[in-house]
Amino acid sequence: MVRVTTNEMREKFLAFFRSKGHTIIPSASLIPENDPTVLFTTAGMHPLVPYLLGETHPGGKRLADVQKCIRTGDIDEVGDATHLTFFEMLGNWSLGDYFKKEAIEWSYEFLTSPEWLNLDKNRLAVSVFAGDSDAPFDDEAFAIWRRLGIPEPRIAKLPKKNNWWGPAGETGPCGPDTEIFYWTGDPNQVPTGFNDDHPLWVEIWNNVFMQYFKDKEGKFTPLKQKNVDTGMGLERVTAILNNTEVYSIDVFQPIIALIEKLSGKKYGESDEVTRAMRIIADHIRAATFIIGDPRGIVPSNVGQGYVLRRLIRRAVRYGKQLGIADYFAARVAEQVVAQFKTAYPELVANQGKITSELANEEKKFSVALEKGLREFSKLKQIDGKVAFDLYQSYGFPIELTVELAREHGFSVDMKMFEEEFKKHQELSRTASAGTFKGGLADNSEVVVKYHTATHLLHEALREVLGTHVEQKGSNITAERMRFDFSHPAKLTSDEVKRVEEKVNEVIKRDLPAHFEMLTVEEAKARGAIGLFEDKYAKLGNKVKVYFIGDYSKEICGGPHVGHTGAIGTFKIQKEEAVSAGVRRIRAVIS
Ligand code: ALA
Repeated sequence: MVRVTTNEMREKFLAFFRSKGHTIIPSASLIPENDPTVLFTTAGMHPLVPYLLGETHPGGKRLADVQKCIRTGDIDEVGDATHLTFFEMLGNWSLGDYFKKEAIEWSYEFLTSPEWLNLDKNRLAVSVFAGDSDAPFDDEAFAIWRRLGIPEPRIAKLPKKNNWWGPAGETGPCGPDTEIFYWTGDPNQVPTGFNDDHPLWVEIWNNVFMQYFKDKEGKFTPLKQKNVDTGMGLERVTAILNNTEVYSIDVFQPIIALIEKLSGKKYGESDEVTRAMRIIADHIRAATFIIGDPRGIVPSNVGQGYVLRRLIRRAVRYGKQLGIADYFAARVAEQVVAQFKTAYPELVANQGKITSELANEEKKFSVALEKGLREFSKLKQIDGKVAFDLYQSYGFPIELTVELAREHGFSVDMKMFEEEFKKHQELSRTASAGTFKGGLADNSEVVVKYHTATHLLHEALREVLGTHVEQKGSNITAERMRFDFSHPAKLTSDEVKRVEEKVNEVIKRDLPAHFEMLTVEEAKARGAIGLFEDKYAKLGNKVKVYFIGDYSKEICGGPHVGHTGAIGTFKIQKEEAVSAGVRRIRAVIS
């Protein structure tokens, strides 16, 4: 076992896979693009879905990365020794290249070789997919593990619930996986057998063999290409190598130390204090990465902004509980930036925005929190109407009210809360639509059609309104598209009509779409539009440019329709303002 810092661990992982012919790709944004089914990137595979389905990746067929992830599903569990909202996922990828043999052998080599992590082989156990009516027992993975020397009692055969990954949404790529566990208990008392529920057996790495596509009817069909998708939690593996818990690894130490200083309390002095400090460290770290992301967002009452608001407000509430008298969120965020500035320079570039947004949100909430808590302590029970009042008058996220209610021994009538909520319209789509859970872009035929339509719309807007028009965001479901762009004024109805007509003309011309990998200079010379600065769209010095006939040239990962005729008829339903200088078009195809 080697002692490592978090930075060293990142480097080791990437160096290992570089030595196996992988291209290192940068972390994609935490905020998914073109994908309304999930609020945040929840796993490394998420931004790679088009490539798992067969799109060409600029980096080739073997990739490795460290992906920023947010998982908010278990936000209420944050506070124990293992859960994190934000984490970094180490991953290696085969896009139709190597498969089970190499993937498993390399995982084993990286974990146990003295040259790499040097983990004790005797403390490893694994699980493989047991098989069911959709897919057979993974005897191949089982045989590879046996050959590597894992004893049979340490190989659990488990059902889909345990050993299957994806699709996180309704449809998408998925497949059986094999998970690797490490015994964190006494090295002299490693059990002979393996029980994945035992808390001392900790999962460290998941190898997914993405070879199926699950469709809307729930049918599994083999994918065009067999892929490997792996995920290893950076914080967790670093903690294991240092024989400690995630909140005690090097990157968290100065953050916890600052919270100790601000509160005058000690981490570990009581369960309550420890829990509060973990929650503050986790939530402010997550908030820092969300605001500091290149597609960063700010607190609000919908979508990602609402999750961000919840994180900040929950942290502020635990700060009060620790007795921190001053505003503290921005100071903790500065410490987070200091810890991560080398690996994530975007945090330094956005530091001003991070601290001001946090300070604003904390100020806004602090006064209300005290008043709200006083109200709360007078209550004997909380019906949905009171919960709604707390939300509306004091800005208590409903989840915080539920948590406080639980601490006081009563529950909240959620049904009534939702009725009140609907009545008052400020409808939080996230709370009602359940998008917290996350899911994957389905890349279904209709979503792909909408995606190509956004390129046509982008170009048509530039022709009608001028080349100052730039895309500011887009959001696609199977029912409609939204497209945000820069423009100083409301569109006239004549402009809307001309844009719509242009898009429909191009659709009728049935132009073919194709992509080319170009250097940035070539792409510029050929008049491609899009974010040249966006490091996510490019690799090395190459960018992937999609051409739609002679009409549109745009930097983009894909996928797109083969011919524009497939799109159908394009109709703009609405044009409105989003913020100063940014307009939004909502359109449908039929
Ligand atoms: N996609 C797999 C996971 O997130 C590797 O566990």
